[in-house]
Amino acid sequence: MIVTIDGPAGAGKSSIARVLAERLGFQFLDTGAMYRAVTLAALRQQLTEADADQVAQLAATLTITLSGPRIWLGSEEVTAEIRSQAVNKHVAIAASNPAVRSLMVDQQRAIGARGNTVTEGRDQGTVVFPQAECKIFLTASPLERARRRHAQLQERGDTTPLEEVLEQQSLRDHRDSTRAVGPLKQPPGSEVVVTDGLSPAEVVARLEAIVRRCQALS
Ligand code: DC
Repeated sequence: MIVTIDGPAGAGKSSIARVLAERLGFQFLDTGAMYRAVTLAALRQQLTEADADQVAQLAATLTITLSGPRIWLGSEEVTAEIRSQAVNKHVAIAASNPAVRSLMVDQQRAIGARGNTVTEGRDQGTVVFPQAECKIFLTASPLERARRRHAQLQERGDTTPLEEVLEQQSLRDHRDSTRAVGPLKQPPGSEVVVTDGLSPAEVVARLEAIVRRCQALS
């Protein structure tokens, strides 16, 4: 069974989806981490969004490995680095590149084919796994999302002010939902969960109830 969780940045998707996957005994696929890893590799080569062909060529040479919350580029662990502000800011280098998206979609489908999966991203229920048995759209108000992202950054010693986090988030929301390939959209047939005012445990419980319903139907 494939469970897709799509939604905007800062809705708490990654942490919630990971816990949900553990609860269900499913593998977990963090597709945002893949776009972040490609961005990191491109930034290291001083590539920009304008260098679309080179970024696509580079992406084709990368071996991205995900294991639990950890991620590797080749043999180098990049778990912390892919969450840096530089990557946050420039992630469109990978995410808005159609050739990179097509590569990532193939890799994501190959991972999904291994077995029961909870996958999280922007286009999982729409583009990557349109046939998924269970589709969830997880969202929250912009301010709530920015507050959460800000708290995460502070935990990591990053002092970016809330206003700037909010500004970057609205830019990313705009780009995520208006790009030509794989835009963020509520998948048809998905269950919408708004997480404002809910604790992570409450969100996980709601999602688990949704998946159990899907399992009963399939
Ligand atoms: O979920 P995240 O913040 O780690 O995602 C990082 C970026 O990657 C975000 O700007 C949207 C993009 N992304 C995407 O375009 N498609 C996905 N399936 C997942 C993430």
